[in-house]
Amino acid sequence: MPKCLKYSGGIANYEARTYPGMKRKIIVAGNWKMNVSYDEALRLTGAFGKEVSSSNNMEVVVCPPAPYIPSIVQQFEMGNQNISVGGQNCHHEQKGAYTGEVSASMLASSGAKYVIIGHSERRAQFNERNELLNKKIGTALEAGLHVIYCVGETLEERRADHTLQVIKTQVTEGIANLTSQDLEKVVIAYEPVWAIGTGETASPAQAQEVHAYIRALIATYTSAEVAAFLSILYGGSMKPANARELIAQQDVDGGLVGGASLDEHQFIAIVRSAQSFL
Ligand code: 13P
Repeated sequence: MPKCLKYSGGIANYEARTYPGMKRKIIVAGNWKMNVSYDEALRLTGAFGKEVSSSNNMEVVVCPPAPYIPSIVQQFEMGNQNISVGGQNCHHEQKGAYTGEVSASMLASSGAKYVIIGHSERRAQFNERNELLNKKIGTALEAGLHVIYCVGETLEERRADHTLQVIKTQVTEGIANLTSQDLEKVVIAYEPVWAIGTGETASPAQAQEVHAYIRALIATYTSAEVAAFLSILYGGSMKPANARELIAQQDVDGGLVGGASLDEHQFIAIVRSAQSFL
């Protein structure tokens, strides 16, 4: 089933639009977080690099710890493997006296194409707020990177029925002042915090509801065209067993995969599930 650009519903007064025959990009990105040794990293990318690659309408991305980026980029280049590499975070300033930090331009000049910004672990553990994340997105785009901007509600917020309000604030404050052209280089990842690393996944219907809402928000704040072409990924215990059903949803355009991206067999299986929608 091709993912034709057709969406309905969303926030009030949003006019549904269709773009017959057009497709938006499916992306499967692996977020390794602070895991694996250097040797294991190269073994892992060597193993799945032989099996999967990006194509016209689909992109495979791996986001390893920053020190491994140049070697992994080189490994993919030498093997002619079309897989993009991303960082997991960057500083909001371009450069300066920030001991221990990594800048967006350092990632870009090391061969990274993407950077993840606003992961819930950074929001919770490093107190990163939407305003700071907005600055980081701007700095990353200036450095020529593409951004995977993460949003998601906690369990308490979902139980209190605040999910859509939380998402609205995270999305609108995170992308504030970005132009339509900027947004062409932004991907949004919906990662419900309660589903990350817990084995508990949002149901396809729960994911679709929030994804459709995000798309409608983007349409309201920018244009229907920008919204229609925006890839929105799901993250939170995505595995081979649930990937197909999630990506089958109209507004789910791939996944941001944590734990399962550390196992080449599972990551390859998730990429294959995504490829079945091309
Ligand atoms: P898990 O797939 O391990 O739940 O992690 C998801 C995630 O945080 C990806 O960024």
